[in-house]
Amino acid sequence: MGALATAVRIRHDLHSRLIGARARTDEVFQVVREEAMYDRPIAERHRIIFYLGHVEAFDWNLLSQRAFGLRPFHPGFDQLFAFGIDPVGGGLPTDKPTDWPTREEVERYNHRLREELDHAIEHALQRPEEGHPQLISMLEVAIEHRLMHAETLAYMLHRLPADRKIARPEQGAWKAVRVKSHLVEIPAGRATLGLESDSGDEFGWDNEIGAHELDVAEFAMESHNVANHDFLRFVQAGGYQNRSLWSEEAWAWKAKEDIEHPMFWRREGNLWVYRTMFGEIRLPLEWPVYVSHAEATAYANWLGRKLPTEAQFHRAAYGTPEGKRERRYPWGEEAPSAARGNFDFRSWDPSPVGAHPAGASAFGVHDMVGNGWEWTRTAFAPFSGFTPMPFYPGYSANFFDGKHYVMKGGSPRTAACMLRRSFRNWFQPHYPYVYATFRCVED
Ligand SMILES: [Fe+2]
Repeated sequence: MGALATAVRIRHDLHSRLIGARARTDEVFQVVREEAMYDRPIAERHRIIFYLGHVEAFDWNLLSQRAFGLRPFHPGFDQLFAFGIDPVGGGLPTDKPTDWPTREEVERYNHRLREELDHAIEHALQRPEEGHPQLISMLEVAIEHRLMHAETLAYMLHRLPADRKIARPEQGAWKAVRVKSHLVEIPAGRATLGLESDSGDEFGWDNEIGAHELDVAEFAMESHNVANHDFLRFVQAGGYQNRSLWSEEAWAWKAKEDIEHPMFWRREGNLWVYRTMFGEIRLPLEWPVYVSHAEATAYANWLGRKLPTEAQFHRAAYGTPEGKRERRYPWGEEAPSAARGNFDFRSWDPSPVGAHPAGASAFGVHDMVGNGWEWTRTAFAPFSGFTPMPFYPGYSANFFDGKHYVMKGGSPRTAACMLRRSFRNWFQPHYPYVYATFRCVED
């Protein structure tokens, strides 16, 4: 295929990908019962109604004037729905449901905005020589921003009581697998972090740009994610009461929030119950445990191990014993598919650890992509030469504060396009609602 034909195909794909991403956020809002639209499932976050407007207003604020010269038709909503909030420190929001517009008003705004943008996008993609030179990147930003919200909205709606939700069809039962996690020796070698420029047209956020190699010394990594049954031993051994396993900040956070077990678990008499997206079940012992960075770190300390660094994760996931070119995905070069892992909105909940052996890395480390983001001990920081994206300068730069940690891999609700090797996710260490798991290393 010639370069021109490829360019036309990419442009056409972008619009259909944006429409596909909209279907993902629409699907999440369909989970919410009408009467729950103004609920606030997580105290630090906005009410659900905000996000209904936000995922659309973001596209409009990004594209309408900058890329297409469109005139605002509802500046009040453009501003009201512009910004989400990151819950670090500070007080809790105090707005009331009546402070917000009706669902109907928001949906009318969304509908008109989509129509205007779709028309402009179609037109611009047919005449690329007339359009904004960064239109392609802006559309990628719109698509991935929306897909990220499709995932983080699922974290939020996970906290919404089951009777405030409409259950969506669940993935059928996973084949029960009993695996024994063991330490896998990873020999010393190099790991490439960041987006390689020879990967052609692949989009990357500002924090991914700047491929660079790092030397990684020999280390050993657990072959499987820490499962609920592993973490239960830590809980039963008094891990949450053992001061020596927690940093000062983590201990203070745990005491303040009165946290004694993972947020997805609930104690009922002598039983442990697990909160799935749409109901409660007995604690599924084989599923990966979802915990905050602080809890993961305490568990690793308990075993005398550590969380991996970002570079160690890369080495174990993408390196090979032969030391040749690193793989595109842990399993090789092929695009993500259902056999390789639990990702791309395939399920609302995790699968048992080790249920996707066809997704293992060259070293035999399982589930590195999918089934839960994986915590690293690397603080989120810019790569050398970092330049903020001009049309979304705060995307990464607002979080280079040493208080956020890199997560790698992906969860059941992570879109396939964000499973690329260079993608970096991050969260603060005391936020227990993320679909994030971990595994430990010895180095
Ligand atoms: Fe956002």
